[in-house]
Amino acid sequence: MNHQNRTVWIQDVTLRDGNQALKKPWTIEEKQIVFDLLVDLNVPGIEVGFPSSNSMEFEATKILSARAPESVTIAALTRANEKEIQITWEAIQNAKTPRLHIVYPVSPFAIEQVLKISYDQVLEKIYNSVSFARKIAGKDVSIQFSGEHFGDAREGMDFAKKAFRTSIEAGANIINLPNTVERYRPFLFVEMVREIKAVTPDHIKVSVHTHNDMGMATATSVESFYAGATQIEVALNGLGERAGNTNFYETAVALYQNGEESGIHFDRIYPTAKKISEMTGIPIGEKTPIIGEDIFSHRSGIHQDGVTKTLGQKKGAYRSFSPEFVGRTDGEKISFTNQSGTKAIRHILESEGRSYSDAEIQILFHKAKEVSSREGNREIGGKELISMAEERN
Ligand code: KIV
Ligand code: ZN
Repeated sequence: MNHQNRTVWIQDVTLRDGNQALKKPWTIEEKQIVFDLLVDLNVPGIEVGFPSSNSMEFEATKILSARAPESVTIAALTRANEKEIQITWEAIQNAKTPRLHIVYPVSPFAIEQVLKISYDQVLEKIYNSVSFARKIAGKDVSIQFSGEHFGDAREGMDFAKKAFRTSIEAGANIINLPNTVERYRPFLFVEMVREIKAVTPDHIKVSVHTHNDMGMATATSVESFYAGATQIEVALNGLGERAGNTNFYETAVALYQNGEESGIHFDRIYPTAKKISEMTGIPIGEKTPIIGEDIFSHRSGIHQDGVTKTLGQKKGAYRSFSPEFVGRTDGEKISFTNQSGTKAIRHILESEGRSYSDAEIQILFHKAKEVSSREGNREIGGKELISMAEERN
């Protein structure tokens, strides 16, 4: 896809925020595997690391920068000081499309309780670091400034606006608004994004980076897009600090379902998720949206009726998208428990190549329901249903 057609720019941070929170951070070789998965997903922006943190990160960032196709913007994170910005620039300058990403706190809590410096000193630090980055990287390289803990700046919006304005005056062309710790309602964060967008010049890209402490990161990011943030930062399998970053798959699919173009190759999602789970040892929950083993199973009678009537259609009665869309080969499953109906019996038997009259299906239904209830409400599979049917003949 031509990048100009994208309405939403996905910036992946798995190799930085995701990796920094792993119990066993990835080796250079493992980072290359994840990087290639991201390229196959057709992600336009990849943050590959935090090169000033250690020599392996530096080396990995250099290697991935050289490996990147021109169509992929390669970002690396740095703290707001000249020494680390210099190291970071050295690590990414060989990328065909590099991006320096500088972070500094902007919330009153972080400034007063953690930095313990004055607000003027914060502005000075932002101005000096971003202008240094602009000076060494030149006019064409993109520079992203993140106001860490932006989500905590509700009572300090005037200062946050000043901080982002300062970064733009110093040369930033992307401002990133992180919900570094998710504490409040998505609506409140989204309103803050809208407020920043309203005072930001059009040529500056607004980005959001949300964490999932209360499980609302996807909703917050998706709604932030409609408040003017055209870059959304996400991570594969929702990896990241604590409860993780905004989930890549949920965000990309939700935006697509609402008509937005991200250029993501959706059919790469499932194999990618499986590989990331294998590499991290973090299992995928059965009910995890998009990629969970059980999310295309239907067990209640009412749902089974709707599912069998809309099977194979683009819009299914009880699903948001098809399994194939996200690269799954397992299809929709109808299984029988004591919650199920006759439609399940017919569907399961027909998919095993068996056909029975309505009267026979009724009898089988009662028999299967009785067995399921008697044996702890267990699921009854296709083979067992066939033997029940054969027993009767
Ligand atoms: O969560 C955060 O604030 C970050 C910044 C570096 C963007 O990861
Ligand atoms: Zn983060």
